[in-house]
Amino acid sequence: MKILETERLALRRFTEADLDNLVELDSDPRVMRFLTGKPTPRTEIEQKVLPAVLGDYERGPAGRWAAIERASGEFLGWIALQPPDDGSTTELELGYRLRAKAWGKGYATEGARAAIHQGFAEWGTRRVWAQTMAVNTPSRRVLERAGLKHVRTFHLHFDDPLPGTEHGEVEYELTRDAWVRG
Ligand SMILES: CC(C)(COP(=O)(O)OP(=O)(O)OC[C@H]1O[C@@H](n2cnc3c(N)ncnc32)[C@H](O)[C@@H]1OP(=O)(O)O)[C@@H](O)C(=O)NCCC(=O)NCCS
Repeated sequence: MKILETERLALRRFTEADLDNLVELDSDPRVMRFLTGKPTPRTEIEQKVLPAVLGDYERGPAGRWAAIERASGEFLGWIALQPPDDGSTTELELGYRLRAKAWGKGYATEGARAAIHQGFAEWGTRRVWAQTMAVNTPSRRVLERAGLKHVRTFHLHFDDPLPGTEHGEVEYELTRDAWVRG
């Protein structure tokens, strides 16, 4: 996976040495509020999450970048263009998760735009899509600033739903044609 540089961020590959970074990121209930609502156990990150991230690099060019603040060298979180299991790049799922101290600075939007550019300009991607809870307003704003459009709202059943689940989930997309048109 290629390193990307934006004005304020370096987006690089994850390595085994990022275990503590990922554990710390997922330990903040504010970060996890619209995801699982609770911290991700260290064992799950060590045995499932990080191996899956590293495994994606073996299958193709797309996956999850660690987002580093260039000025400080600090780990801020991640930006992803998640491929399907076969590692193909035609349709990629945009995702992002940043430490709360990095919110409100435009970092997620800056990283998302760079990732999207990489997909459409270099990997032959035709469609970038994303899903989030309808009530995750900060995430929806990032999607909109990155150029994605709302395509549908739908409802899923959860045995133990997060607050706000009753408002449903939203899907956004940006096609390459729309991206080229700007
Ligand atoms: C989703 C998430 C990354 C959004 O973070 P964010 O800080 O709101 O988004 P950005 O980094 O794009 O920053 C945009 C904000 O910074 C402000 N900002 C400040 N300086 C800026 C700059 N130089 N450039 C752009 N925006 C700037 C913007 O005004 C905007 O604030 P507003 O939405 O109140 O108007 C963050 O809430 C998060 O990590 N949440 C937890 C994980 C999660 O829910 N992920 C999504 C799952 S689908």
